[in-house]
Amino acid sequence: MHIDILTLFPEMFDSPFSVSILKRAIDRKLVSIGLHNIRDHTHDKHHVVDDYPYGGGAGMMLKPGPIFEAVESIRAGLDGQEPSQLPVILLTPQGRCFCQEITHELSKYSHLILICGRYEGIDERVRQHLVTDEISIGDYVLGGGELAAMVVVDAMVRLLPGVLGSEVSAVDESHATGLLEYPQYTRPEVYRGWSVPQVLLSGDHAQIAKWRREQAIQRTVERRPELLDKASLCLEERQLVNKLNKS
Ligand code: 6GU
Repeated sequence: MHIDILTLFPEMFDSPFSVSILKRAIDRKLVSIGLHNIRDHTHDKHHVVDDYPYGGGAGMMLKPGPIFEAVESIRAGLDGQEPSQLPVILLTPQGRCFCQEITHELSKYSHLILICGRYEGIDERVRQHLVTDEISIGDYVLGGGELAAMVVVDAMVRLLPGVLGSEVSAVDESHATGLLEYPQYTRPEVYRGWSVPQVLLSGDHAQIAKWRREQAIQRTVERRPELLDKASLCLEERQLVNKLNKS
């Protein structure tokens, strides 16, 4: 997978991409990232990327020109691939809300472009005539789309084949099953007098799987009941949910 990121602050991406899973994925060439400074696509002496909003109002806007030209320069470098097939995703608080389902959707592309918004906004013509999708990472306002782009890249890359140590690592974790993850323990067996649940020490894999599934359901009922509307549960599990809701 190749991800091109358009930003006014490419240096913001240095540390998240140079540690842990993302670093390993890049080193192993499972993903490559192109960082592009929007300012490099200006033509004036002062490299101006922003301007006042027509009609007045507070704050500055990102001008359309440098963003269009940055995307066009990436499209011009495609070998063979059809430019119209390339997703151009704007990170903006107005976008659709990011979730695990969207990470799966995006991780199927071999190439995508992320545009990080800044200032009070972006010229509407970028949305209308350049962008194919808009994503928000939640209902709060960030200073720009950069942190959101890092979140999207991190969540997407860990789904790519070969990125996680074990192919099953991503199967059970929170949200992968539509439920929150069950509680986990590691050594020591007793820490400050607090013991690991006996069933996990039993070696009975069927019992352990059953316990984990119930714990995941219970935790989801307690913390994020709205997730249960979409989770796929069998009849017995639905009955367990009803029982937990009554108690
Ligand atoms: Cl993608 N951008 C900004 N600026 N703020 C946000 C966001 C994105 N997602 C949530 N808040």
